Amino acid sequence: MTIRYGGDYNPEQWPREVWDEDVTLMQRGGVNLATVAVFSWARLEPRPGEYDFGWLDDVLDTLHAGGIRVDLATATASPPPWLAKLHPETLPVTEDGVRLAVGSRQQYCPSSPVYREHAKRLVERMVERYAGHPALELWHVNNEYGCHVSRCYCEVSAAAFRGWLEARYGTVEELNRAWGTAFWSQRYDAFDEVSPPSAAPSFRNPTQLLDFDRFSSDELLACYDAEVEVIRAGSDVPITTNFMGFFKPVDYWKWAPHVDVVSDDTYPDPADPLSTPYAAMVRDLMRSLGGGAPWLLMEQSPSAVNWRERNAAKAPGQMRAWSYQSVARGADGILFFQWRQSAAGSEKFHSGMVPHGGTDTRVWREIEQLGGELARLSGEGVGLEGSRVPSSVAIALDWDSWWAIEQPASPTSVAYLEVLFAWHHALTSLGLAVDFVRADGDLSAYRAVVAPAHFVASDAQVANLAAYAEGGGTLVVGFGTAIVDEHLHVRLGGYLGEPLRRTLGVWVEEFDPPAAPDLRATGGGEAPAVGLDGDVVGGSASGGTWAEVVRVEDAEVLATFTGGALAGAPAITRRATGRGGASGGGWYVATLPEPDALRRLAAAIVDAAGIELPEPIADGDAVEVVRRGGFVFAINHGAGPVSLRLAGADLLTGSEADGLELAPQGVAVVAVETTD
Ligand code: GLA
Repeated sequence: MTIRYGGDYNPEQWPREVWDEDVTLMQRGGVNLATVAVFSWARLEPRPGEYDFGWLDDVLDTLHAGGIRVDLATATASPPPWLAKLHPETLPVTEDGVRLAVGSRQQYCPSSPVYREHAKRLVERMVERYAGHPALELWHVNNEYGCHVSRCYCEVSAAAFRGWLEARYGTVEELNRAWGTAFWSQRYDAFDEVSPPSAAPSFRNPTQLLDFDRFSSDELLACYDAEVEVIRAGSDVPITTNFMGFFKPVDYWKWAPHVDVVSDDTYPDPADPLSTPYAAMVRDLMRSLGGGAPWLLMEQSPSAVNWRERNAAKAPGQMRAWSYQSVARGADGILFFQWRQSAAGSEKFHSGMVPHGGTDTRVWREIEQLGGELARLSGEGVGLEGSRVPSSVAIALDWDSWWAIEQPASPTSVAYLEVLFAWHHALTSLGLAVDFVRADGDLSAYRAVVAPAHFVASDAQVANLAAYAEGGGTLVVGFGTAIVDEHLHVRLGGYLGEPLRRTLGVWVEEFDPPAAPDLRATGGGEAPAVGLDGDVVGGSASGGTWAEVVRVEDAEVLATFTGGALAGAPAITRRATGRGGASGGGWYVATLPEPDALRRLAAAIVDAAGIELPEPIADGDAVEVVRRGGFVFAINHGAGPVSLRLAGADLLTGSEADGLELAPQGVAVVAVETTD
């Protein structure tokens, strides 16, 4: 096996003579995998039922002759205009009732049986024709499900939603109970009275909203599954579809078991200083979705994108540095959107591996360099690909909680992902590898598990978390957790509820965030932060924008709030639990400390959990250090050079790593002695 390297290849945008040059350049650039036909439906089926595969045969044969493998897309991501002309009802409708038009892409209603049938028919023909093609390495179903249209509110979707609800609840009484329709005269007498949560006069029913989120994710998955069924009937080549990092509309925990290999599209913004740690979190999610198995970075940009307000180019070396961040965090493939930068269409100003300026360009030189390096890293006896990233800490991630906590009329206005990111960043900046887990999953591999803002918690989830702590694990529960059950009914008798109340030795009486900023006084500044005091956060610190009234029953208070009505009240607590004795325990954190304080808190938690921090191999925070298999990756994201302290050979330069000076964006991949 080699590390995969390549990108989306759209030869139909170019004259035939360019294709041969493409293959020659791919060989020069170290490309070994091309994603083909992602947006080719209109070309493959120019008229209903009339297929034109000749050109695609030529593309696959030409790539094969050049030794380049193919990730063949099913081409169903963008139906041809004739589908909407024949079947206007396949066009999706927004929550405001607007039917979206052709002329862009992804203009299909996910619940449309007509769309699904036409898509399946095309996939059948693709499988018939290409299942046995020697270049075929991977099936790439559709593209970025839900990227533009993740929810459809048309009549067809409404009927499908009713069917989904009937299957979930059985009777309309049960639906009424789950949705709490005694409130605001929302009682339904029959399923056919129920609709998707389209634009409405005021707050829509929260459980209706959540169920529509779940339904919409499931409908997209059903589209994927329908294509997979067709492929599996005629091919045993592995199947993927490209995920989009932390993509709110689609519950990737549910999707992940349906793909043979997890693949991801990530476009960090070079202008955002937090892009690097945020991208690290995305890569960790991709590894976690596959249970630790290697994954593919299916798309990234060689330099600038064309869809931000300002499209910053990647700094020299940054594409390479971020690519190695993916490899370090478990990727066995680095691919791009796209091979050759388009000359026409909406994405012509999105960078490509072969830029408008051709090969005498920085972007091309960097592409060539990385391709050469990855080929060497895949060489005989190196053993990087397939290796795993060991981790003793995990963060619980939950799409239901993400959807529900960000609904209007929720107790916090805190963005779910920001809370997760704060914890992930605090833990990784200590040099730890961090996985994501489901709260009801197997937690036994971890010494510590953090459950921040896990707002929606089923009985199974709270029981699993509590059992983990009682069994000796270190459980950290952040504010906003276990407030409601899976129907969004409040867990009564004090927030947190049993069994977490017993495990943590605390419960929450009331939320009390600092008042919203007075815009006239602050000139529109930031929301005021609460103060914190406690050794565990390094003395006095800022506690961020959240606070609550914590009632301690059986826990040690490690930090208190300062200032205001909550002055002196508990903010961070810990109860030693179960078999873990001194190292196990249940922590409760009633706020989100500012980054430095959170990092100190994270250090105290991992210390109490008996997790040993790795020896720093460089001074300062600029170097990202990740251990994968028998290799340590060191990536310098800072502005100045940094020297390394690490014995072993750098596989990229062949030099001894100890004392090696890493330039900005510099990378070392060091083979180290390993005991695991
Ligand atoms: C997504 C899509 C690609 C392309 C890129 C541009 O990832 O899958 O087709 O549009 O965005 O960044």
